[in-house]
Formats: sequence, structure tokens, C-alpha cells
Amino acid sequence: MTDAAAEKIEKLRNEIRRHEHLYYVLDKPEISDAQYDALMNELKRLEPAHPELITPDSPTQRVGGKPAEGFKKVRHSRPMLSLDNAYSEEEMADWDRRVRELARDLPVEYTAELKLDGLSVALQYQPEETGGARLAAGLTRGDGQIGEDVTSNIRTIRSVPLSIGADKLKKTGLPPSIEVRGECVMPAAAFERLNREREREGLPPAVNPRNAAAGTLRTLEPSIVANRRLVLYAYFLLVNGEYWPQGQAATLDALTAMGFRVNPHRGRMTSIDGMMQFIEKAESERATLGYEIDGVVFKVDAQATQQRLGYTGRAPRWAIAYKFTAQQAITQMEDIMITVGRSGKLTPTAMLRPVFVGGVTVSRATLHNADFIERMGLKIGDWVKVERGGDVIPKVAEVVEDAEHPRGTRKFSFPSVCPECGNAVVREEGEADWRCVNADCPAKLRESLLHFGSRGVMNIEGLGEAAVAQLLERGLVKSVADLYSLTEEQLVDLERFAEKSARTLLAEIRNSKKAGLSRVLMGLGIRFVGERTAELLAAEFGSIDAIMAASREELERVEEVGPRISEAIEDFFARPANRALVQALKDAGVEMTAEKKQRSAELAGLTFVLTGTLPNLTRDQAKQKIEAAGGKVAGSVSKKTSYVVAGEEAGSKLDKARELKILVLDEARLLALLEARPPAQ
Ligand code: IVH
Repeated sequence: MTDAAAEKIEKLRNEIRRHEHLYYVLDKPEISDAQYDALMNELKRLEPAHPELITPDSPTQRVGGKPAEGFKKVRHSRPMLSLDNAYSEEEMADWDRRVRELARDLPVEYTAELKLDGLSVALQYQPEETGGARLAAGLTRGDGQIGEDVTSNIRTIRSVPLSIGADKLKKTGLPPSIEVRGECVMPAAAFERLNREREREGLPPAVNPRNAAAGTLRTLEPSIVANRRLVLYAYFLLVNGEYWPQGQAATLDALTAMGFRVNPHRGRMTSIDGMMQFIEKAESERATLGYEIDGVVFKVDAQATQQRLGYTGRAPRWAIAYKFTAQQAITQMEDIMITVGRSGKLTPTAMLRPVFVGGVTVSRATLHNADFIERMGLKIGDWVKVERGGDVIPKVAEVVEDAEHPRGTRKFSFPSVCPECGNAVVREEGEADWRCVNADCPAKLRESLLHFGSRGVMNIEGLGEAAVAQLLERGLVKSVADLYSLTEEQLVDLERFAEKSARTLLAEIRNSKKAGLSRVLMGLGIRFVGERTAELLAAEFGSIDAIMAASREELERVEEVGPRISEAIEDFFARPANRALVQALKDAGVEMTAEKKQRSAELAGLTFVLTGTLPNLTRDQAKQKIEAAGGKVAGSVSKKTSYVVAGEEAGSKLDKARELKILVLDEARLLALLEARPPAQ
């Protein structure tokens, strides 16, 4: 190797990197595409003569080897959470109030960013010899805990630096092991181009840029990905698995300084007025941005405040997504279809003449239940206003009637028998839904299997509608537990099941045994037990046996479990068939234990006195909650009392508290204090 050649190659690379940064990150090219191509061709010509110089971060190496066996699943360094949503100024004001309440004396300032409608990814950088950092892995969000390793595809995204120079790290004071998180989006132009191509090839169009971006990132051919022109906007920086302590605005600055693309539409504000102004501006610019957004994200800026606010199960309390209001369109309802869910619930769906609303083509919309149809007086053939907000399922908002849109003529009557099994359907007193109560209704089993295998539950990839339909048709599974005794021979026999996909599905099923107690709880399909409740139950009881043995009172000790949920859980486990199912899953080796949450000692050392009648909690419930958080409850007020919790008709204890200048809380404040405890993550 000659030094001169090495020097020339390195110089050329830096020149190309600079132009890539100008073009893909800053949107300010200094040279024409042809000039850029010429530089790149020169580098491609020089490199092969010095193969020892072809490092993975060379601009020629974006499109490299492809993953041979699909994508590896990798656990995130820290869960990738989602955001709570707000839809109105009122909800924003509520959130702001709550943030301030919980932040107490800590500063509250917000950083506003656009809510980009793409998919979030995590980029892991590792130290390299030069003191800089090199892109080591790029992961999709997956279910938030475990993502897919799509490094070879991420590398093709030009706004993702393959390396970060030591000088840049030094300037920002960052170590070379960092993780950058951001949103990967497909710009409108790339989306349109993709759909023109698909049309030429006789393929159905991609529904929206977000789906197209997600599909692209999971393509097994990096050269295709390189062609799709995805863009990555960075918004988070993690050091040692923790958010960078300097706060959100400084994070965005540091990311910019390191060469990442950061969305230029951002702001800082302290008031609700400031937030609403930012929202209004974003909404007015929305159509001309060149990429899709579905709202605005507000993040509390200071890390100390973020930490005090903490997390709920799935989202930080220190951030919120304001979602733009629904978009509407008018179309004709051609029919009403009834589907049977896993609980036997009959759901009516409007079959619509396809219409474009808020960036997607909609051909179905939910009609909720029989009452909804009746209240709207819906007839088949009616013209309806369809509404879509963010990723919410489209809704029928109203019936339209004018000269151009005459009323439909066919009356719809809700079926009195299950469309799948023909058994009579029932509607219980006080319930809105009609249900098929036939325990052997094939629809229930089908839907239960689909639910069990779905992402976010047992996450069994390949257990989609087609596979489930065939498994049922051949009588291979009669309950979700039967999945675990399927064999390769049985699967290869199914239509469109090659040996490889049979083996993959079996491996996925096997893997799901380790999904964990909370996932199994969700998978069982107990009414009202969703992700968060399942996680709380798992953390509290630690095993399925303990949950099955728990009394309603014990169940209700779990945060967020009230009488409605405890009753559903008790009902579920009281049924012999469900107990047998649990046993069968256990026998199949499905893990049904979890680490028990350590009692939080957050309120340790604090003494509470309760007085008067609280609006929702009984005295006992309040006491249990305080004790669960490590606090003490005393009978009388003294100088040692930390807080007095007062409800209606509080008596002398309240007077005494005032006299001793002891802080008085109402029920809401008590709950806020309890919730401010950091989550068990
Ligand atoms: S912050 C824990 N910032 O919105 C914080 N998310 O609804 C979660 N998103 O999964 C991410 N733009 O995919 C954040 N500026 C932004 C965002 C953003 C879009 C997406 C992201 C996230 C989803 C949550």
C-alpha cells in the first residue's frame, strides 16, 4: 500500500461524506448529482486496487451483504416505549397540569417536535480504533422489547452516518458507545415512485408511506432498500442505556452536530398557548412537508424532571403526542358484514366503496354494535361520512343526505344467529353487544389462535389467517395449547407450506414458550386484561398459580384492577375448560412465572393519616395503596405526620393538620403521588 494512494482514498471518502451530509442531512447540496456520481465512481475505481483500505464505513459500502436467514431478534438496550395521545386543547391542558403537579419544584419546559409517521428504529454505535464510533447495529422497534436486526438495510439509508468521527464526539462530550433512536420515514416522492412501479408490475399499491417504509426495512435485499430512499430523523440519544442527561433540546443539537438528520421543525415553550401555536403551525405546514406527519410530540425538556415524572407501563409521563384531528371523506356503504370475535362478540363492519381518507384507502369501517346502527338509522346504500384519525380504525361518523346523496333503501336487520356456527346469539342485560355463546363456535377458536399468535401477545410469526384457517380445517388444533404439539410432518402437508416455513413456524411456536407470564395472560384472552393489566398482574403475583389462587380482594390490590376486572379474572379461572387450558399450556412447557416486583420503597419513611370520605377509594383501599408503596398509615395527626389525606366531611384531624401546618392531600393528589413512583421496568 502506498501512503499516497491511501491518502487519496481517504480524502475522496471525506469529500463524498461531506456531500452526502450536505445532500441527505442538510438538504443543501453544493454539487450536482452528476458531480457526486463522478466522485463516487472515482472512489469505486480506486478502492479495489487497495482492498485492505475498504472499511465498512466507506461510502461505497452502504449496500453490503444481505442477511442469509432473515432477521435476528435482538433485545433492546432499553424498551422502546410508545406515547400517550391527546386530541384536544383540553386534553393538552390536563396533561400540562398533571406534569406540573408531579414535577413539583422542578422546571417544566417543553420541546416540541413533529410526530413523523414512520417507524422508530434504534442505531447502536460502537467504539472504533480511531476513537470515533461505528454503526454496529440497526434495530426495528418490534414489540418494544425485542426488535429485529435490520442493520444491512439501515446502512443503505444515506442520512444515517456509518461512522462518527472522534472530533465530533469530543465536541459533544459523548463516549463512542451510544445509541441513537429516531423515525424512519418514506418521503412522499419516494412513495409515489414506489406505487408507480408497483402499478407497472401489476401489483396492488402500498397503502401508505408508513407501511411502505416498514415493509422496505424488512426487505431481504439491501439494494432494493437503497433504492427506496428512506430517510431517518434522529430524536433520542442513549448513553449506557440511559437518555443523555442534557435534556431533549440539547440532545437534538448534539445529534445535529454529530451529523444526523434532525427534523428542523422544532420548538421550545413553557405554556399551553405556546404548544397550541406550534400545533397550529404544524397543521398548516403539514401538506407541504413532503413526508407524512400525524401530530406533534411534546417532551419535557429537563432530564431531572423526566425522571421525577417517570413512566406508565408503556409510555413516559413526560411526553405526549398531540394527534391531528380525524380526516373525513364521503362514500357509499355497500353492505354490512358481521364478524365474530374471540369472545363471541358480533361486530358489524361497514363495507364501503373505497375512498381515500387521510392518506389511505379505506374500504371498511367499524359500526361498533347493533345500537349504533339503529341510532344512526343506517340503511344499506346510504352515503356516509367516514372519519380516520391517526392509526385509529376508520369510523362511520354520520349519514349524509342531499340531492347528490340519496338515502339507501335496504333495511338492515341484525342477525339473530351466529353467522359462523348458526347458533342463537344472546345479549345480556345492560350489555351493548350480541354474543355467540356456543363454546365450540369455530370463529372463536380461530380468533383466539390469531390473537394468541399476534405481535404484542405470543408473537408467533407465520401464524396468520391462512395458516390458522388450514390448521382448523384439518382439525390439527382444538385449543391454543395444541399449537405446541404440532409437528413438521403435519405442517408441510398444508398448502403453501414449504419445509422451511414449516420449520420456521415451529421454531416460532417453540420460542413463544419463553414469552413470559404477562404475554400468556394476554394470550388467554381474559376480558379486560390488556397489556398493562397483564404486566401489573404478572409483576405482582409472579406466577399463574398465584393469580388463579388469588381472591378478588387480592387481585384488586393491583394498581388499575377494580371490581370489573377482578370479576372477569375470577370468572375466567372458575371455568374448568380454562383451567384445563392453563394446565395444557404448562404441560407444553410454556413459561408461566415472572419476576415479582420488589415493593417500592418510594414512600418509605412517610406517614399518612386518613380522614373523611374519599370520592372513590374506601379507607381500606387507600391504606393498602399507601402501604404497597412503602408508606405508613397512622390513626392520629401529630408532628410526625407527613400528609393528611382528607375527603368529604373530614373532622378534627383536618383542623389539627392545619394547625400543625401539615400538607393536606385530596384523593387525586394522593393517587398522583402514588403514581409518580418509577415503574418496575
Ligand atoms: S418519542 C418514548 N418523538 O411515535 C418515546 N416519537 O406514538 C417515544 N414518533 O413509537 C418516541 N415522531 O415511532 C418520538 N418526534 C418523535 C416522533 C415519535 C414520531 C413515533 C415513534 C413512536 C410513536 C409513538
